[in-house]
Amino acid sequence: KGKRAFIAGVADDNGYGWAIAKSLAAAGAEILLGTWVPALNIFETSLRRGKFDESRVLPDGSLMEITKVYPLDAVFDTPEDVPEDIKANKRYAGSSNWTIKEVAACVKQDFGSIDILVHSLANGPEVTKPLLETSRKGYLAAISASSYSYVSLLKHFLPIVNPGGSSISLTYIASERIIPGYGGGMSSAKAALESDTKVLAFEAGRKHKVRVNTISAGPLRSRAAKAIGFIDMMIDYSLENAPFQKELSADEVGNTAAFLASPLASAITGAVIYVDNGLNAMGVGV
Ligand code: NAI
Repeated sequence: KGKRAFIAGVADDNGYGWAIAKSLAAAGAEILLGTWVPALNIFETSLRRGKFDESRVLPDGSLMEITKVYPLDAVFDTPEDVPEDIKANKRYAGSSNWTIKEVAACVKQDFGSIDILVHSLANGPEVTKPLLETSRKGYLAAISASSYSYVSLLKHFLPIVNPGGSSISLTYIASERIIPGYGGGMSSAKAALESDTKVLAFEAGRKHKVRVNTISAGPLRSRAAKAIGFIDMMIDYSLENAPFQKELSADEVGNTAAFLASPLASAITGAVIYVDNGLNAMGVGV
């Protein structure tokens, strides 16, 4: 029987979420997406108009099918958490049921269960500021959107993840090594995400027989990464210094996610898996 995946954090065809969707689709999974509410309209319009058709092509020549796209804002858990200004915002008012709890309920109602949960989203409003210049508000916003969003997503979806299922998030080495420029509390948010991966692996493993892992990915020129402002430098640095001197393709991260979601990875849980051409293993630049 084919597996069903819910991938949170896809709003174009340039990021890791899209590549993960493709790898899972190529392996036979049914694809459901969660798309940030303000980005939903343009994403769905582009999909409908065939703007992504070239990047929908799978290795067998067929096009990836997306069964359903759900609006999602992962900084809100329930409708009671949504402040008035967001409720009144034009871009939000056109959609409904986009808090995490509601999305999980909608997926349950539409499909009953899933097998694979992917969290491929992050946001840090002060990411361009050094940590010493980051406000409390900015720091907490980074943690809310990039770390707690995963705890909440897993909490609300776990009851509908089939036993034997798998959950995956995306992290970055700035959690454990100094990467100047990855600021605003984003490095802290990734450290929390990696630590939570271990605790959640324990809780979800014991309670639901679900595995929880995170992929520490190398630099990719995604929309989110371009907003940070130093992505080209990070790609060049990796090209110069990593054991494998090639540009990292999003598909390589997608394929790792497909492996982690498969029975081939049945004993892997609580792990940080590096998909970065080996850059993490270097001690000095050469
Ligand atoms: P992306 O721009 O494709 O994905 C980020 C997504 O998060 C976007 O679709 C955005 O709409 C969504 N998002 C932001 N706030 C949201 C919210 N409150 N609710 C729901 N969705 C929200 O960029 P990318 O780089 O593929 O990011 C995916 C993951 O990969 C992130 O966790 C990122 O930190 C991680 N990563 C990225 C690296 C890179 O160099 N691009 C390196 C290592 C990790």
